[in-house]
Amino acid sequence: MKTGLLCLCILITICTSASHQRRKFPEDFLFGVSTAAYQIEGAWNEDGKGENIWDYGIHNGVGNIVDMSNGDVAADSYHNYARDIEMMRELGIDVYRFSLSWSRLLPSGFADNINEAGIAYYNRLIDELLKYNITPMVTLYHWDLPQKLQELGGFANPLLGNWFEDYARVVFRSFGDRVKLWITFNEPREICLDGYGSDNKAPFLNAAGIADYICAKHLVIAHAKAYRLYVNEFKSTQKGKCGITFGVSSILPLTDSEEDRLAVELRRQGDLGIYTNPIFSKEGGFPKEFAERVAMKSSEQGYQRSRLPEFSDKEKEFVRGTSDFFGVNHYGGSFLSATDGIDDRVPSLNNDAPVAYHTPDDWPKSVSSWLMQMPNSLNITLARLHADYNNIEFYVTENGWSTYKGLNDDDRVRYFRAAWESALDAIEHGVNLKGYMAWSLMDNFEWAQGYSERFGLYEVDFEDPARTRTPRKSAFIYKNLLKTRYVDHDYEPENYIMSIDEGH
Ligand SMILES: *[C@@H]1O[C@H](CO)[C@@H](O)[C@H](O)[C@H]1NC(C)=O
Repeated sequence: MKTGLLCLCILITICTSASHQRRKFPEDFLFGVSTAAYQIEGAWNEDGKGENIWDYGIHNGVGNIVDMSNGDVAADSYHNYARDIEMMRELGIDVYRFSLSWSRLLPSGFADNINEAGIAYYNRLIDELLKYNITPMVTLYHWDLPQKLQELGGFANPLLGNWFEDYARVVFRSFGDRVKLWITFNEPREICLDGYGSDNKAPFLNAAGIADYICAKHLVIAHAKAYRLYVNEFKSTQKGKCGITFGVSSILPLTDSEEDRLAVELRRQGDLGIYTNPIFSKEGGFPKEFAERVAMKSSEQGYQRSRLPEFSDKEKEFVRGTSDFFGVNHYGGSFLSATDGIDDRVPSLNNDAPVAYHTPDDWPKSVSSWLMQMPNSLNITLARLHADYNNIEFYVTENGWSTYKGLNDDDRVRYFRAAWESALDAIEHGVNLKGYMAWSLMDNFEWAQGYSERFGLYEVDFEDPARTRTPRKSAFIYKNLLKTRYVDHDYEPENYIMSIDEGH
């Protein structure tokens, strides 16, 4: 009897302390999933869609895709969108973040010719989402510029801002009565550095240290034009929010040395600050130390002016403060140390702000070379951004883990649980985090990695003409998080049968 009582007491103590640590996401916190048009839609030349830079680059052998694949069909969401929404209802999500294909809406890129079939497709998608109380979060640009605009220089042409503004007007006019969350650009750094400063992403321009910096300036001006258009012509009636999303890794100095610390800060400016500072900092424009460094290097290299363009005072003013929230796509991170950059390409970001990367051997590795599980990394990233750009609203607009094909994705589950705890840490730290979107709803075309790396909560059978979707273990774990709103580390799905719960 006595022993029994003692046991009961201990049990109660354990249970109370466990439930004490059971931190819940706020009631109004939005959970969702993300995708992007070129990665899922397929129907690359159907119903009047124009060619974009990925269509063109891959079909013409400019892009190097590891498995020789392309996004011509992808997950075929152009035809399977109703099944996609059924999957969202199975998961019980609040928000679906997807992107619009510019060349599906404006085949030549210009607004003189609007493709009504493209408008109709997104209307069907949006209306079906709203029917089930799923909030659309719409990205205007997720890497698929109309090829005609690329032939005019794309992001290297200062007129890009006008073209983007005209496209944005068509979009806000067509969908803004129902869409209240807008993202102008997805991952400016990857657009500019990977697309213009290397040959890893379309348009595969590979003009490092020059085109990537030109792109950065024109991109943030294009963003500001779309934002100001929304504020001036649409916001008072449509009452939505407009923001922008960055890819942000956790980068920490390898040692306490001044040298490592300064190298990391300079690199942070070149990697992120050249896109975020013009919009979110008080002073506007490119970060000062980085601008000085590139000016000095350019002069040493024989250029007559800095390879990094300048903002006029008028441009700084125009771009400053043009975002209602800060979107973060976060995957992982690394430790960085100072190095002399002598082995790097000249000119290049690596040469302008050289660093060496280090990742401890015991960090879990995904199948993507760039993605390792860094402990606490989401909190590290969000807390730093919160400190830099105080009081802004944050959304995690992407977060995920890659595996090979297969439904039993325990390492994705492990990654997600750690990331969700880290998101709770960030909220506890005071970060104004409003929502979290997992990348991705389903397997899709992973850019230069083709279909070799899978990021889906649902597996897609790319051999099957119907592109059948099947939930992975992680889908059940995410569903349970959304139901309970806390991270249950012991939860195992009872069976692997997915269904739509009452109320969704
Ligand atoms: C989250 O990050 C902040 C800022 O670095 C830090 O103060 C806090 O302790 C972190 N939280 C946890 C639980 O690690």
